[in-house]
Amino acid sequence: MIRLNLQEDTSFEKLPVSVYANPEEASIVVASRIADIIRKKQLSGERAVLGLATGDTPIRVYKELIRLHKEEGLSFKNVVSFNLDEYYPMLPDAEQSYVSFMYNNLFNHIDIDKDNIYIPDGTLAVEDIPSYCIAYEERITELGGIDLQLLGIGRTGHIGFNEPGSGPSTDTRLVTLEDLTREDASSSFGGKENVPHQAITMGIGTVLRAKEIVLIAWGEKKGEIVQKAVEGEMSSDVPSTFLQQSNNVEFILDEGAAFKLTRFATR
Ligand code: F6R
Repeated sequence: MIRLNLQEDTSFEKLPVSVYANPEEASIVVASRIADIIRKKQLSGERAVLGLATGDTPIRVYKELIRLHKEEGLSFKNVVSFNLDEYYPMLPDAEQSYVSFMYNNLFNHIDIDKDNIYIPDGTLAVEDIPSYCIAYEERITELGGIDLQLLGIGRTGHIGFNEPGSGPSTDTRLVTLEDLTREDASSSFGGKENVPHQAITMGIGTVLRAKEIVLIAWGEKKGEIVQKAVEGEMSSDVPSTFLQQSNNVEFILDEGAAFKLTRFATR
């Protein structure tokens, strides 16, 4: 007997992908997954170590975490956070800094201990960056590793600021930004010419060491790169393809970001 497979064909997908109707629904799912880790760790008297991202994509996740704190009593007292990246050079109190982003969109609204917040320092002298990056990695290890790493994806295929060319065992380091990445950031800097050319970013190796990895993407603008990351061969041309190496990664997408996946594109 021939059985018709009425399920969507996910056989081209090289890592787990969940698709939600819209970013709001998906963000609630991601926030509740983060909240579950925090609560579970609280019960056993442990800290929860989170790897966090900036950009437009995680804003709704952070909004939901703030709501869970304000309305449902979720405490962040046991949370330690490591941000993925920061522009270089960058003053922490500049409007475009990832420090400002994180405080405005999350940290100012929850009860996290400010001493538990780690964001790469955009004010270092160049010669001090290598030892700073080693210490950043060591601190993550000392704290037991990242329990959940939240990621967005750039149109170059970057995760963190690991642009094309980045290998799977890269660690935290100073990198040069692609033209497309600087163009995508230009509106918040009042023109591409004001966007820094460099950044300090966790490496792909750093990300792959996290116990769980969740990559989120919304909108058709991300459709093409998401398809490459999910269905393409692993290659440093699209650094996010290296997430296929992880045993505990999930892409959480809205329908727009998923539209180029074979299961939808061939409908
Ligand atoms: C931000 C980061 C970047 C962004 C990516 C997508 O900390 O590491 O990889 O996640 O550029 O940015 P948005 O969400 O603005 O589309």
